[in-house]
Amino acid sequence: MLDRYNRRINYLRISVTDRCNLRCNYCMPENDPCLLSHDDILSFEEIQQVVAVAVPLGIDKIRLTGGEPLVRKDIVKLVAMIASVPGVKDLGMTTNGILLEKHAKSLSKAGLKRVNISLDTVDPDKFRSITRGGDIGRVFRGIDAAKQAGLLPVKVNCVVEDNSVDKDAKAVAEYCRKNGLQIRYIPKMDLGTGKFGIVHGGTGGNCIQCNRLRITSDGKVKPCLFSDLAYDIRQLGIQKAIRQALLSKPERGSVNQENLFHNIGG
Ligand code: 5AD
Ligand code: SF4
Repeated sequence: MLDRYNRRINYLRISVTDRCNLRCNYCMPENDPCLLSHDDILSFEEIQQVVAVAVPLGIDKIRLTGGEPLVRKDIVKLVAMIASVPGVKDLGMTTNGILLEKHAKSLSKAGLKRVNISLDTVDPDKFRSITRGGDIGRVFRGIDAAKQAGLLPVKVNCVVEDNSVDKDAKAVAEYCRKNGLQIRYIPKMDLGTGKFGIVHGGTGGNCIQCNRLRITSDGKVKPCLFSDLAYDIRQLGIQKAIRQALLSKPERGSVNQENLFHNIGG
């Protein structure tokens, strides 16, 4: 499907939960992030239905995000349900890697093709501090498990301060080089104000080539991360929500003032 600016939209990012087992200081408030209630979160059937409707419209690439997608109960089953929809060519996941050691193999068997793993430092203490308590050993083991399971190429997302690649980011690059991983630097967005906007050169900075729509864990189709536009699939129906998101997709993003990042999935 083409949007108003002739961009071919073939990529859907699906947030499967707003919960996370880490509390990265630039993403989540420390205690009690305002979480959605269970009834608001899309069921597996609803998510599969979204995919089944989106594919004939031109979506062939799906990425599962969160929060942290692997904390969603029975996530392997959801992956299998999505992979079984005819026409899904590429199925990936963005994860913090904490639970990957446990799940990599079954995810791969269920039809997941590849993973992006977030890693901002290779220093265990720094990692514990950024994530407010995370154990980096689990991420390293998760990365190894992903490689073993053939979830390739394993990509690493490394959040950096204002486009500047510091010594932590360089050490992550070195770790990636040694381990055959691809690295992507993501400029840190300031979420402290509750609203966020484009960081030049960041993941939102490439509007001309943007090929994606997003769906939040509570079923709102978003044409752009950097905008408040959102179309509720439960109110409008899946097809109409996707169509309206497509038709309203802005030429370029500006500011998001409403949504909490951990519900949209980056
Ligand atoms: N700025 C940039 N990236 C962020 N992420 C989370 N919060 C921010 C932020 N404030 C990234 C994570 C992960 C992805 C899901 O979103 O590092 O790679
Ligand atoms: Fe969790 Fe990812 Fe946010 Fe960190 S950045 S708190 S791992 S969702």
